[in-house]
Amino acid sequence: MNISITKNTCPKEKPDSSVLGFGKYFTDHMFMMDYNNEEGWHDARIVPFANLSLHPASTVLHYGSEIFEGLKAYRRKDGKVQLFRPMENIRRMNSSAERLCLPQLPEEETLEALKTFVRLEQDWTPSAPGTSLYLRPFMFGNDETLGVHAVHNATFVIIASPVGSYYKEGINPVKIMIEDQDVRAVRGGTGYAKCGGNYAASNRAGERAEKQGYSQVLWLDGVERKYIEEVGAMNVMFKINGEIVTPMLSGSILPGITRKSCLEVLRKEGYKVSERLLSIDELEAAMENGTLEEAWGCGTAAVVSPIGELCYKGVKHQVSGGNIGEITQHLYDTLTGIQWGNIEDTFGWTLPIE
Ligand code: PLP
Ligand code: COI
Repeated sequence: MNISITKNTCPKEKPDSSVLGFGKYFTDHMFMMDYNNEEGWHDARIVPFANLSLHPASTVLHYGSEIFEGLKAYRRKDGKVQLFRPMENIRRMNSSAERLCLPQLPEEETLEALKTFVRLEQDWTPSAPGTSLYLRPFMFGNDETLGVHAVHNATFVIIASPVGSYYKEGINPVKIMIEDQDVRAVRGGTGYAKCGGNYAASNRAGERAEKQGYSQVLWLDGVERKYIEEVGAMNVMFKINGEIVTPMLSGSILPGITRKSCLEVLRKEGYKVSERLLSIDELEAAMENGTLEEAWGCGTAAVVSPIGELCYKGVKHQVSGGNIGEITQHLYDTLTGIQWGNIEDTFGWTLPIE
């Protein structure tokens, strides 16, 4: 892929690490390329970060043809910058694209584009503990017509944002509300795809939970409202009576890369982990009889995030005494150790930007 580069002649001042938060600041450039049926992907370019210009009939504005990814570049102690399992994100984006009838990305060339972009923006990768450069690739349908059909024109963009922790709690336990009214996704729907519409439909429950002091909601399945699925921006894991359990990939939850990495770490270390159906009745019983030992969420933005309280139908249950549990801490230390290059990556997950 030939990528043209137009440098930003007015680079911005970089924010101080202490004010980063999540997704508030953006770097000086963005990667873009366009697709149409005749030419395929073309006009790959890195250009100064700027607003996009869209036809008012553009498909994305009416029918929500949009998918995205999230991954991070980490600043190592030796000053180098590295990515974590980027090909997993590219493959998941293609799975999302297939579901939404958006065009497939060429895997290797997209990885090259990502690396070229990160190489150019690497000075934006902060070095304070817990900070990183969040990369947000996204793709949208861009036909200039109101007919409803698979798109013939699309745009792929990568933007980048220096970030701190996603939750204001940082590594401290978050409070999660178990949602018993709205549902996020159904099997056969788009739950496993990372498409904007899933998040738009989640906001009502998220806002209700936030008003009551909860960070996010834990979704139940969309058919029976019986089985645990995932949290708003992370997959979820529990330790119940010695068993580590996480909802199986049913088609309605996102196949998280952090989830997959946690499972691989735990299994390599000899822990038994079950990917299975977990009903709200089983979880409620475990919360009541004290066998729920730990609960945590995992995701790129959220990293490994302990859950200190779960609320279901107005009843509040403290988890791990409101503290971070042992397995949660271990996973946090292991994954962040590999991501920031402080412990040896025996899995081959990291990709230094040379
Ligand atoms: N589930 C949802 C709904 C998410 O938005 C995310 C974040 O990307 C995850 C799970 C975790 O996925 P990953 O670990 O690939 O970031
Ligand atoms: C991520 O963790 O990368 C996500 O995409 C979650 C997000 C919705 C902030």
